[in-house]
Amino acid sequence: MFAIGAALFAQTPGFNYDESKVGAYTLPDPLRFANGTPVRNADDWRTKRRAEILRLFESEVYGKTPTRKIKLRSEVLEQSASALGGAATRRQVRLWFGEAANAPFVDLLIYLPNNAPRPVPVFLGLNFAGNHTVNADPAIRVTKSWMRETANNHVASEKDRGLSAGRWEVEKVIARGYGTVTAYYGDIDPDFDDGFQNGVHPLFYSDGKTKPAADEWGTIGAWAWGLSRAMDYIETDRDIDAKRVALHGHSRIGKAALWAGAQDERFAIVISNNSGEGGAALARRDFGETTARINTSFPHWFAGNFKKYNGKPQEIPVDQHMLMALIAPRPLYVNSAVEDQWADPRGEFLGALGADPVYRLLGTEGLPAKARPGIEQPSMGRIGYHIRNGKHDVTIYDWTQWMNFADRVWKRGLAGNWNLDAGKGKVYWIGLADDLKSGSFFGATGGRLAEMKDLAVSGGSLKFRVERIFETTPPRRTEAFVEARLEAERLIGSTRVGERTIKWEGGRAPVLNEHDNGSWKRGKTVRVLDSLPAAEDWQLDKGVLRNRSDKAKTRFTTEHYRNFELHVEYKLPKGGNSGIGLRDHYEVQLEDDFGKPVSSHGNGAVYSRIAPRVNASKPAGQWQSIDIRLIGRDVTITLNGVKTIDRATIGGIAGMAATVHEDRAGPIGLQGDHGPVEFRNVTITPLTSSSSLP
Ligand code: GCU
Repeated sequence: MFAIGAALFAQTPGFNYDESKVGAYTLPDPLRFANGTPVRNADDWRTKRRAEILRLFESEVYGKTPTRKIKLRSEVLEQSASALGGAATRRQVRLWFGEAANAPFVDLLIYLPNNAPRPVPVFLGLNFAGNHTVNADPAIRVTKSWMRETANNHVASEKDRGLSAGRWEVEKVIARGYGTVTAYYGDIDPDFDDGFQNGVHPLFYSDGKTKPAADEWGTIGAWAWGLSRAMDYIETDRDIDAKRVALHGHSRIGKAALWAGAQDERFAIVISNNSGEGGAALARRDFGETTARINTSFPHWFAGNFKKYNGKPQEIPVDQHMLMALIAPRPLYVNSAVEDQWADPRGEFLGALGADPVYRLLGTEGLPAKARPGIEQPSMGRIGYHIRNGKHDVTIYDWTQWMNFADRVWKRGLAGNWNLDAGKGKVYWIGLADDLKSGSFFGATGGRLAEMKDLAVSGGSLKFRVERIFETTPPRRTEAFVEARLEAERLIGSTRVGERTIKWEGGRAPVLNEHDNGSWKRGKTVRVLDSLPAAEDWQLDKGVLRNRSDKAKTRFTTEHYRNFELHVEYKLPKGGNSGIGLRDHYEVQLEDDFGKPVSSHGNGAVYSRIAPRVNASKPAGQWQSIDIRLIGRDVTITLNGVKTIDRATIGGIAGMAATVHEDRAGPIGLQGDHGPVEFRNVTITPLTSSSSLP
């Protein structure tokens, strides 16, 4: 961008890279009415000043957006619950603007994380070169709309699949529990000056009108309008949380994102990436690209009226800090890049800082940094800002900060599932609800999950208590006090039980990309008991394996398995108890519970996680059979011929869990330290899928 720009500047002046030429300027005060009287309180702002500023941006900068409502029609073109190797649900939706057969339309591409509770928060943004460029996923439809690229005569090409994947990082967004919604900006209005004949402008022409008036919308206005229509669709999609939509945009699309966020208060977070002139950068600095320059190179972007200010930015009745003030008190994030001087990084920071007084008037924290923070040292309050190394682009560094910011303002940082390592082969688990009001804990109270009590969350740390009553005579009660804090995506904490304190640490439970979706093939069945390594405390006799003592150590297969069907026959005495360990992650409970109510700790349950639908147990002393099909976290169990668990998803590790690496293969374990138990006919059949990732 920089290099191309530099070549162009030689012929077309209208830019400045010399800070000493910026000179003195006075910014219009967002907290003073046009007539000079001060804005005294939040009410003055909300009811009067905000509208006054919005009108000025409409008539003088971006142009008025038509208010007439267009009837929208949406059609799901395609969807799949096992996109991105099973991590996401993909949906491609065509949104028609109007009922006419030839109505213009925009194609939305949506990815939602499969492992996150519905409805999910999303990042929404337009893309520059078609939906098929944001990820290499071959199922993404290639647009037929006009392309800015001339290489293929303005036609999108198959070759460009995934070309901008690094600007979207869809997999990483999904892994953090967010969805992505995107659309091609050219679907809304192709980015060239054609006198507003294509795109959505003509939808609003009446009475022989053929182009917008001088105070009406240009192309940036059209893109912003399109973003609001995407929001209209989002409000109808039950899987997306319309109250948590983070709108982002890069460069010219960043200008459109800010303008959309200023007009439409449904956008809960607004993010400007390198938006520069006409975006986050102050026009009055006239640094990098200038008003005169942008209106000359891109005459179709702004309202006709904006051209009055070519070379006279000090006469614009507003400046860009006021655009961002219109977003208040909603969270706003602005970021710059060191090598993107064209976009005026300093001007972008000062723009965000200029919005701060309004955020404060509205009772929020505003922007914590008062001077431009160092490179790659984000400052995050209700307004966030960072400048990173590198050029005009969107990078994983930018995305990481946006997601951290969204986690922070939506208080999601601690929400979700955490696999924790307590050392000495012990693992713990924390699952915290999205609203941070409840959760459960595994560890310190046996293999069971315990509900969090007296949960207190503040900033990045949490505290709670758990207890467990053991049904011994007399009953024994264990109580544990847990404290943890989040540091750079690691949860670091400790558990105190009586005098003992156990320290632990961990990360988010991994996304498992495998689902029981019909694509699985059975491999070769293996007999397990014959191949178990020798062990003193167990005895194999005529195909029956029994523990010699009640303290027999769990018998593990040497082979590790990932996705499989496991068949086990077992016999328990009255009151007997055992278990089957699955990959060192989960346990299927074996217990004499004939005729008792079902529970998540009963026979055939996924221990502490999933209760069987019905009790299909046989009386003690009889051989029982259990079939376990495990793919990723999807489990199906058939007990004594009755399907008791049907493709349920295991919420996380528990029971015989011994590793935080839930995405790895692991052994099968047969438990022998809870009392006498016998096993026979244990077989395992690995499952493989053509669509699974290595
Ligand atoms: C040009 C233009 C900028 C714009 C950028 C982009 O450089 O001058 O205002 O932000 O293109 O959209 O990438």
